[in-house]
Amino acid sequence: MSEVVSEINTLRSATRSSGQIALEIKDLKTYLYTRWGVVKAVDGVSLSLRDGECLGLVGESGCGKTMFGLSLMRLLPRPAGRIVGGEVLFNGEDIVKKSEAEMREIRGRQISMVLQDPMTALDPIFSVGRQLTETITISSDLKGPALLERAVELLRMVRIPAPAERLAAFPFQMSGGMRQRVVGAIALAQEPRILIADEPTTSLDVTTQANYLRLLKSLQERLNLTLIFITHDFGIVARVCHRVGVMYAGKLVELGDVEDIFDNPRHPYTKCLIDSVPKLDKRVTRLATITGQPPTLHDLPPGCSFRPRCTEAGTHCRPDQYPDPAMVGDRHYVRCWLYQ
Ligand SMILES: Nc1ncnc2c1ncn2[C@@H]1O[C@H](COP(=O)(O)OP(=O)(O)OP(=O)(O)O)[C@@H](O)[C@H]1O
Ligand SMILES: [Mg+2]
Repeated sequence: MSEVVSEINTLRSATRSSGQIALEIKDLKTYLYTRWGVVKAVDGVSLSLRDGECLGLVGESGCGKTMFGLSLMRLLPRPAGRIVGGEVLFNGEDIVKKSEAEMREIRGRQISMVLQDPMTALDPIFSVGRQLTETITISSDLKGPALLERAVELLRMVRIPAPAERLAAFPFQMSGGMRQRVVGAIALAQEPRILIADEPTTSLDVTTQANYLRLLKSLQERLNLTLIFITHDFGIVARVCHRVGVMYAGKLVELGDVEDIFDNPRHPYTKCLIDSVPKLDKRVTRLATITGQPPTLHDLPPGCSFRPRCTEAGTHCRPDQYPDPAMVGDRHYVRCWLYQ
């Protein structure tokens, strides 16, 4: 186990701050109109990503990570989900304003997503070969043996054993780890520039998880992919990402380089998340937990939504307003009244 961990540790290369801007997100707001009210799943998120950069997006269940990823793909649940504000600039153009036909040109080819649950991402009634070849033909003219060869190459790329024989297999004939890698192969079939991987390792055992992370990381570096890695696991972020964004109740409450966030977390919520990661070098009798539940994302009061659970809350926290982003380092910002 420790060998696997140390191997992964070496995977994380230095922060890439020199690439071109791949994606610029400005004040993105995605709301879901439900019978219980308006769920502000993504509520004013801004960030930019460079080519070849890996951003980890962390936060507890229900904080809006998946809705953020689906917003970039414009694949929100219908009819509830809608982008109600902000911009997502890709190649200088705003994705939010694109028509559905224009989005079909971008999805998969330019921006691709590995969905949270591999079983919903794969169609149970078609072989993986068919699903893979169909995706490849969306953006290429490959046919016959060349098409099959490309499908085999993609399965080999995600390290599926005996890839040629596996083309005929159906999703239910594969293990969870294999299915997850097939979903990864489909997401990469059209060689996108940006890959959003939503909890791609949740259902995997530690060794398969380590292999999968290593694989994603090497593909990312080889193809110079911009990777958004969604997870609730801070430990994984530490191993594979350059930067990390912490989401709480639809808002990005802290954003910075991984080293800065780990060495010097500023938001009380980030501190709690880091404290809850088990450490190999420390013997602890109990892991830290965050008291209370994340709020439901409708009818939130105007002030900081972490306040009811925050151990550092006090009279400095204004109840009538959400704190603005405050820079606490070169590339490190935090939204907390402690830093206003
Ligand atoms: N189809 C839907 N209809 C209505 N509300 C939804 C729908 N899907 C998600 N939500 C709500 O949107 C909010 C954000 O959900 P989201 O799936 O983005 O969370 P998440 O951070 O990805 O959580 P998890 O870690 O559990 O995957 C939650 O409050 C959730 O209840
Ligand atoms: Mg999710």
